[in-house]
Amino acid sequence: MTETFDVKLDEKHYMPDQRFRETAWTPDYASAYREFLADPEGFWEMLARELDWFEPWDRVREWTPPYARWFTNAKLNITRNCLDRHLTDGCRDKPAIVWRGDAGESRTLTYQQLYEDVTRFANGLAALGVGKGDRVCIYMPLVPEQIVAMLACARIGAVHSVVFGGFGAGALRMRINDAGAKAIITADVGYRRGKIIPLKEIVDEALADAPSVETVIVLNRSGSATPPAGRGVDFAKLLEQSAPGCPAEVMDAEDPLFILYTSGSTGAPKGIVHTCGGYMVGTYYTTKHVFDVKDNDIFWCTADPGWITGHSYVVYGPLATGTTVVITEGTPDYPDPGAFWKLVQDLGVSIFYTAPTAIRMFMKHGEEWPQKYNLSSLRVLGSVGEPLNPEAFEWYYQVIGGSRCPIVDTWWQTETGMHMITTMIGDPMKPGFAGKPVPGVVADVVDREGNPVPPGTGGFLVIKEPWPSMMRTVHGNDERYCTYWNTIPGCYTAGDLAVKDENGYIMVLGRADDLIVVAGHNIGTAEVESALVSHEAVAEAAVIGKPDPLKGNAIKAFVTLCTGCSQSDELTAALAKHVREELGPVAVPSEIEYADRLPKTRSGKIMRRVLKARELGVDPGDISTLEE
Ligand code: PRX
Repeated sequence: MTETFDVKLDEKHYMPDQRFRETAWTPDYASAYREFLADPEGFWEMLARELDWFEPWDRVREWTPPYARWFTNAKLNITRNCLDRHLTDGCRDKPAIVWRGDAGESRTLTYQQLYEDVTRFANGLAALGVGKGDRVCIYMPLVPEQIVAMLACARIGAVHSVVFGGFGAGALRMRINDAGAKAIITADVGYRRGKIIPLKEIVDEALADAPSVETVIVLNRSGSATPPAGRGVDFAKLLEQSAPGCPAEVMDAEDPLFILYTSGSTGAPKGIVHTCGGYMVGTYYTTKHVFDVKDNDIFWCTADPGWITGHSYVVYGPLATGTTVVITEGTPDYPDPGAFWKLVQDLGVSIFYTAPTAIRMFMKHGEEWPQKYNLSSLRVLGSVGEPLNPEAFEWYYQVIGGSRCPIVDTWWQTETGMHMITTMIGDPMKPGFAGKPVPGVVADVVDREGNPVPPGTGGFLVIKEPWPSMMRTVHGNDERYCTYWNTIPGCYTAGDLAVKDENGYIMVLGRADDLIVVAGHNIGTAEVESALVSHEAVAEAAVIGKPDPLKGNAIKAFVTLCTGCSQSDELTAALAKHVREELGPVAVPSEIEYADRLPKTRSGKIMRRVLKARELGVDPGDISTLEE
């Protein structure tokens, strides 16, 4: 771990339209936060009461560090909140899921239809011998059946482990075996940019050495698959043969809901375990309050349910609020870079949530693409996954949001389950800063002993109190769980570096392991990358440290250029000059290499350690999460 360090902060901010404040679910951040601090348990209890439970809790929270239990002894089933609760006259015919396929196919499921499919499939799973506590691996393309499968598991108390459909056989096998999955739900194929991904073949390869799996349920996505043999079952047949109306399994608040393997940008993947009660309350609350979801919203989070963002903000949170969820198998630049904006226009999307890597890609293609479409339905924009650098913020705000939509830059993790830091709708936004802890969360920036550092000084981002949707353990490896809580005394250590300003706004600088010490100065990779990206020619940048006999480390940058820009010695000199002006001479890369693309995880995070390993000619370690 590093020492603390100084960061130069910018004071620029944007004021959202006051109307947002007047109508938001959290109209006044400061008073909501005070209310929470005055009675933390009462704060969460009020939110929990908005939801449906079979039996109430004895206590809101029990905290024996590092273990927390929330809503103790309460009984519930999360699917009753995502489905049954909405089967009212006003809501049952409302679209729950609007889907677009890779080739432009479309389907809509109302809340009533989703309820029927989920309960049918749940009955089907039960008939196959899958029950409470059994682990089920879901390895599917982004089709409505993926969500049906997740909810059907939750309906009967089976613990799902969704594996993103872009992973290969080795990564899949490791996850199946670690979870000890009894069944796997998959499809014959998936589609991506018109290309076929042979999911079932990959599953077969993974299953060559996965003894726990008894049943393989296969969706005939292509419409031309041969009927499954052996331990195989056809998805559609199972659905057809089963009756709707499966009663919801009575789950204890602390029963596991799912295991999700982290994207593994550092080291080998970990099976993060989330439980039923707290996760439900945390994701419901943040979906409703952070995105300010209202009855007539059309909600589009572009993540795949294979990631935590998809679990929390495609499936559980949005459906618990009863909103209309848009999902698409398509990618942002296929068939052309206007694909997403066309969908926003056609479906009237009002809340749009994506990742900085996508925003920077849109920037690279230029404003002319979004400008072809009418984006006036947009009301709230969100970002997640990496620091949203100021240039990307400005572009997103002006070009996509028409300088009208607040941007919620949400900082959180697979482990936290829900948003932890953001700027609530109605508050001034500071480009480059995620914002403040959401009411309900106590976050700070501290030194390695856990003492808060002053504004302008970088340190470790920590959470100081438990929260309902926190992970409960790492599957099969509780010791690994404990390290989150015992690295810095009394805190949950997120592993990120951050800095606060005078007003308590938090800027996330990147992972603690992404820090480079150059001639005794600590330099965050994200800072240098942000400076490079702020140059008009640069689309994306990745920065690594290289051992240097003189300086300890030297900075090497890899950049991709915007369409129409080409590399030259003049440009290299201009970029170095630009970084010098932005950050000072110590942060200037000693080498700048031009690349066509940067290595990223399948969830869009730049894998700097792969670049570094390549540069140093060493083994990059686990690269199962690297996109193709
Ligand atoms: O480094 C932070 C970064 O993503 C990490 C968590 O990754 P994962 O578990 O895959 O979950 C991603 C989706 C929640 C964090 O430790 N990160 C996430 N959101 C932000 C971010 N960094 C800066 N700003 C964010 N808004």
